[in-house]
This record gives sequence, C-alpha cells and structure tokens, in this order.
Amino acid sequence: MDKIKIVGGNVLNGKINISGAKNAALPLVCASLLTADEVTLKNVPNLSDITFLNSLLQFMGLKVEKKEDIYNGYPATTYVYKANEIKELIAPYDFVRKMRASYYVLGPLLARFKHVEFSLPGGCAIGARPIDIHLSSLEQMGANIEIKNGYVIADAPDGLKGAHIIFSKASVGATCNILMAATLAHGTTKIENAAKEPEITDLIDLLNKMGAKIQGRGTSILTIEGVKELNGAVHGVVADRIEAGSYAIAAAITKGRIELINANPEHLQQPLRVLEKMGVGVEILDNSIVIDGRGKTIIGEDVYTDYYPGFPTDLQAQFMALMTVAEGASLVTESIWENRFMHVPELCRMGANINIHGRASAIVRGVEKLSGAPVMATDLRASFALILAGLVADGETIVNRVYHLDRGYEKLEEKLKAVGANIERIKEAD
Ligand code: EPZ
Repeated sequence: MDKIKIVGGNVLNGKINISGAKNAALPLVCASLLTADEVTLKNVPNLSDITFLNSLLQFMGLKVEKKEDIYNGYPATTYVYKANEIKELIAPYDFVRKMRASYYVLGPLLARFKHVEFSLPGGCAIGARPIDIHLSSLEQMGANIEIKNGYVIADAPDGLKGAHIIFSKASVGATCNILMAATLAHGTTKIENAAKEPEITDLIDLLNKMGAKIQGRGTSILTIEGVKELNGAVHGVVADRIEAGSYAIAAAITKGRIELINANPEHLQQPLRVLEKMGVGVEILDNSIVIDGRGKTIIGEDVYTDYYPGFPTDLQAQFMALMTVAEGASLVTESIWENRFMHVPELCRMGANINIHGRASAIVRGVEKLSGAPVMATDLRASFALILAGLVADGETIVNRVYHLDRGYEKLEEKLKAVGANIERIKEAD
C-alpha cells in the first residue's frame, strides 16, 4: 500500500487549480442513466471513486468514453456517457462495498426502468450512514421496496408517481436520489427540507439541461414536474469547495500564500469567514481566492458543522489541524456525523493538545510545534488533516493508507509540490 512522506517546515507559495468536485461528479455521472442520449461531463476529477462508479455503471451496460481536455484553462478529463443499452439493473455488493455513493443508481434506474436491485451499503468509519430517507421517499412515490439477503429490491411496475415529501434531515444523498427519480415520475413531486449544497445545485443544472422541470434551485423546497423522457446534455462539474478549503488551510498553516484558481468563494462563505477570524488574509479575485498567512498570527476559533450553508463537516478535520498550532483554544462541534474525530488521536501523536468531550465536541489547545510521526486515518478528510499537520511538523511524517486520499484529492502530491511542499509518494506493493 502506498504511503506519503512529508518533511515539514516549507512555506507554501503559488497557485493551485481547483478540480471538479467529487461529490458533485458522482450523482452527475448517475444522472446519465436517465436518458438513452449522450451525456457529456467536463471537468470530472480523476479519482478512484469515479473509476469505481464508472466500472459499476459499465457492468450495467453504460458506455463510457474518456477524453483528455482543457477546462477553464487547465487540463481536465471529459467523459461521454451513453445509457442506450442498459442490461443489468443490479448494483452488486462487491461494487457497493468499495463505494457507498453507488446508491445514486437507485433513483435513476427505478424511474427509467421500473426496477433496481442494490446491495445495502452498511456503515463506514464516520458513522452508521443509513439510507432510510432515500427508501421511504421512493415508497411515497409508489415504489415497492423489499430488503432481502442484504439487497434492496425496488419495483415500480406502473412507474413512479409524484408525491409531497418532507425530509426528516436535509440529506445530500437523498435529495440527489429523489430529484433524479422525480424527473421521470408521473405528476409533480415536492421535496421539503431538501439539502442546498452546491453539488445539488450542479445536479439540478444538469437535469434541467436534460429537459427536466425543476424549480427551487438553491432553496430547501424543490418542485419537480415529471416529464416523459430526458435528452442528452453537456455540463461542466462545479469546482470542489472542499478541495479548495483544504488547500486554503495548507496556505494558512505554513504561513504562506496560495491562489486557489477557479475556486468559487460563494460556496465557501463559512470556511473563509472562519479563516479571517483566525487571522488569515482572504482576498477574492475575479476567478480565484487568495489565502495569505504570511506574517500572520493564527488564533483559535470555534466551529460548529452544519448543513449548507453552514460550516461543512468535510472541512472539520482540516480546520482542526490548523487549530492545533493556533494561539489559544478552539471548540469544534461535529453535528452531522457521529464518529468524525478519528484524526484526533493521530494529531495528538504528533504533539497536538486535543480533548474530546462526548461524541460531538473537541477542545483544541494550540501548541508551539508539532513533530513528525508515522500516522494513519480511516477516512478521506482525516487523512488530509494529517497531511496538513505534516506540512508544519518538525521532521518527517509518513501518512499511511493513501488510498483514502486517492478517493478525493486529484493530483495531491503534484499540486502541493508545485507550491513548494516537500512531499513524495512511496510506492509499495500490496
Ligand atoms: C454527503 O454524504 C457527502 N458524500 C459527504 O462527504 C458529506 O460529509 C455529507 O454529504 C454531508 O455534507 C457524498 O456526497 C458522496 P447525508 P451523504 O445523506 O449524502 C443522515 C466526503 O468526505 N441520514 O447528507 O451520505 C446521516 O446519517 C464525504 O467527501 C439519515 O439519517 O450525507 C447524516 O447524519 C463524507 N438517513 C446526515 O443525515 C438517510 O437516509 C447527513 O447525511 C440519509 C442520511
């Protein structure tokens, strides 16, 4: 298994182009199942999650063509998808266990082909991750759902029908699934308490280009008037706000200056506000955000994760890495996932002073210096937090289980090296 070696102490300086968002691309790829026409997605990040999803959909019969392209002035990947010969309506356990977001096939396949079988994903390191909201909403739309041998078997022999659905939680995944399902349902669907993340807005934009009739973009009430069929479309994946936020912290923690090219400041309002309160310089330019930590004293600040536009849970671990070397104390409260402090013991092994209170809160007291160590994390964002800690730690940090990072950070070492980090991947046979 590959490892990443970092020698801390370099001040980062330069430009990083922000890739397309993983969490937007995953549902966009599955939206291509809604039509027999070609769906072209530009700016798809080259990540193992996308490769896994493509292989699942190819197994089902989706045609996938990959092209190297240029997007917003930088090399990027374009995929052309065509779902005119779908043969398998089953997502087997071997695919789903590798990539939970495979559940995005549920809505599109049930809506277009009236049947889907899908292995239940189970929990993961950050929480139990139930999909009850997805399933109960599909039931409200007339689907018959049975759970057998670890699989969800869903049927809608007469097609799905519009419904008035009120989500108990503003779930990102359920919003995407039900949006896709409702585009081809008979009648109108109204979703209340829908998630409002930019990745959802991006999905709505693609679906509307494909001929869907969705209103309420960017709000918590979405109205979808079902149509008979959808057509092909061309769409560019929105910039990854979590990747941008992660590199913003790399600038702040090393007291350097990084220009985040193609990042969208509107999608990062809370994280940028917290950075400013911590004493970091933030400047919004036409097509970029400049994060400037040069000569700044970083001070502690409290953070409470929440649904968008609240502070994103997917940046909690990275901000905590910054707090470990800030002046004074910071209180971090995680309200979305029940087990998202796995980075804490590893940061403490590097010299951080963090106390967890109950399951949801952690007090971080800033220390003068971290020291390098061999570390590992059990999820993607926690792994990036350890990279950040390694960038300022004395000596060498080895981050194990790099496959987590490969799921969500395109060209990680290349991007960090280009701004001056001393980082390299150590290849090791499995
Ligand atoms: C998405 O997960 C993201 N993943 C996560 O990013 C992110 O942390 C999360 O949204 C919250 O922003 C993808 O987009 C692929 P949810 P998702 O459904 O859709 C509960 C990363 O690091 N819930 O919004 O699975 C759930 O337990 C990943 O890139 C139910 O109770 O999250 C959680 O407490 C990690 N029942 C809350 O809702 C359900 O049926 C929010 O979950 C569904 C969710």
